[in-house]
Parts: sequence; structure tokens; C-alpha cells
Amino acid sequence: MEVKLFTPGPTPVPKEIRDAGAQPMIHHRSEDFSKILKAARDSLKTFCDCDGEVLLFSSSGSGGMEACVTSLFAPGDEVVVVEGGKFGERWVDLAKHYKLNLKVIKVEWGKAVRPEAVLSAITPNTRGLLIQACESSTGAYHPISQIGEALPKAQDLMFVVDAITALGVHDISMVRDRIDALICGSQKAFMCPPGLATVSLSVRAIDRLSKVQPMGFYFSLQRELKAQVKGQTAFTPAISLICAFQAALSQLETIGKEGLFKRQKLLQKMARTAFREDGFSLFNSDEDATWGITVAHAPKEVELKAWLKMLKTEHGMWLAGGQGELEGKIFRISHMGAIGAKDLLWGLETIETSLANYYPNARDRRGSAAAREMVK
Ligand SMILES: Cc1ncc(COP(=O)(O)O)c(C=O)c1O
Repeated sequence: MEVKLFTPGPTPVPKEIRDAGAQPMIHHRSEDFSKILKAARDSLKTFCDCDGEVLLFSSSGSGGMEACVTSLFAPGDEVVVVEGGKFGERWVDLAKHYKLNLKVIKVEWGKAVRPEAVLSAITPNTRGLLIQACESSTGAYHPISQIGEALPKAQDLMFVVDAITALGVHDISMVRDRIDALICGSQKAFMCPPGLATVSLSVRAIDRLSKVQPMGFYFSLQRELKAQVKGQTAFTPAISLICAFQAALSQLETIGKEGLFKRQKLLQKMARTAFREDGFSLFNSDEDATWGITVAHAPKEVELKAWLKMLKTEHGMWLAGGQGELEGKIFRISHMGAIGAKDLLWGLETIETSLANYYPNARDRRGSAAAREMVK
């Protein structure tokens, strides 16, 4: 049985994108590859409204996070880290590993940080702020635009945003939101296989790079910047993935940003309405929830782990469970990337069908019908 991915990464890869990544191999020191690399970097630069340069790394998203820590900061630098979930913890681990002087703002998992909390942690010595846009382990969306707007304008402070599950879902503009480094991964809203990280840098960040001795060798923004502005990569890149990524960017350009955000808000509303109608309790408040993932507790009759397994093996639907302290407590359904309204309706109906195993009147539940009304 084909298993449909409703996980917050990897997400389904459409055929056109798979095909773009399955072309005969070309050499990375060729004109043809330079053109593809340039097209991908240019498209992403426009997509995230970046005034500096976009760099691609052949790694998962965490490699992009590590490259930012090792290239923009020096040991002992004061950084503020927002920790509201598993990926906030990753910033903490990275900052500790590279011996930065970190101040952690702990946020209750599932909640978004309040901009006032961030501002009050920043001092004149703070050299960086590390945060997730969407904390995908909990489904919370931190208010990046409001935080960026409130940050001290003149201070040499790098606003580093992990947008691995947020770019292509939410309205993020590096210029408007004063973002200096924006990290993304190929396997989420960009509908590609895993293996590519992107780091988009502001002009201010490029200036910082010239003043910092990078701690990393492979994950060096300095080294990649030098190569990629010349149409090259420092090392052998994931050529096939870059071809697929370029095809994905073209698809997103066709939909347009406004169309994309409208679709994401609709999918979020469909999922939240359906779950409420069907007796699930939602983990995030309406205000804090991301548009790309819906997170909920299963109804009390349902044993979560067994249900998720049964959905996969008997119904061909793969949902994600909780991570870290949320393991066994919540489940997450992704509706980003190639998951459209039709796919989500199938998923919501499949969930209702599967619940019939647990309580006899579950099939009468009206969640998917309410969601269907929204797409008529
Ligand atoms: C918000 C966020 N940050 C970081 C990561 C880590 O990315 P990767 O697993 O691609 O290294 C993920 C992946 O799920 C994520 O969702």
C-alpha cells in the first residue's frame, strides 16, 4: 500500500520535481550547472526578499543552522536563544557546542514567544538572536515580523531565523522583518527530497562575515559565499537536488506568494475546524498556530501510538507523533508543500474512518464535512 506522507518533513514530492532531479548527471564545474545554481539562488532571493546573497549547502537543514553559528559568531559572543521546542533546543545545543555565551528564553512548548520577552533579554552586547519561525515540534509560530520590527536598528545584532518549516508557508520578508540569516531546508514546503539547506544572508550579515574567523570548515558561510557568487560551490554539491529545488521554486513562483499564503490559511482553517468538530483538542491557540501543521491531542478513547501505527499500516496515512517531552501526547498533521485541499480532505476523512475502530458513532462525526464546505 502506498503510504501518503502527512509528516512535517519530508513532505510528498510531486512528479515534475522528482523528474527534474532525475535528469542525466551534469558536472558541477560546467556552464550548465552554474546557470541552474544561479537561477535557484536568484529565485530564492526574490522569494524571501533578501537584499544580500543566498547560499545552498548539501546537508539537511541543521547544517544551515550550524553554518550560521560557526560563521557569524565567535566563542564568547553573547546570543539570545528562544527555546520553545525540540528545534529551539537545537539552537541551544549548537550555541553551547561552539561556546557562545547564551541567554535562553524558555517558552512553554506549544506557545509562541512574546516579543516583549525577547526584547527584554537583549542587551547592548548581544551579538545575535537565534529563533525558529515555526517551531515544528510543537506547531507554534513565533511572531518573527513583530520581533524584527522591534529589534534595535543600529546594533550589530544578527537576527538568525530557522525558517525550515516556515518559508513557503508564512509571509516572511527578510528586508521587512530585519532578518540577517534565514535558514531553510528542501524537504518541507519546497516539496523536494531531503538533503539541501539554504542560508539567505542580508547585506549586514555579509559584512559580519568579513569580521569573523569561521569556526567551521565545510559549514563556512565565508567559504561558500566566495564560491557561489562566482557560480560555483566550494565542494561537490547535491546537483540533482539543486535541479529539483529549482523546479520547485518555479512552481511556487507560478502559484505566487499571495496565492500560497491564502491556501495555507485555508488548509489551517480546514484542519482546525475538522479536529474541533471531531472531538480532538488542539494543542496551539488560534493565535499561536502555524499555517503549515496542525497539532492535536487524540480523543480520550484513542491510544495514540497504536492509532498512529494503525493509520499507517491499515489506511496508508503517515502522521507524526510528538517529539521530546511531547512524545506520546500529541500528533501532528502537515499541510504544506504539495498537500492541497483535496489531499487534506482525504486525510481528514481517513482519520474519521480510522476512529470507527475506537467508538461506534465515529463515522457520524462531521469534521471533514465542515472542511469540505470550505472548499466549495
Ligand atoms: C523548525 C525546524 N528546524 C530544524 C529542523 C532540522 O532540520 P533537518 O532535520 O533537515 O536537519 C527541522 C526539521 O524537522 C525543523 O522543522
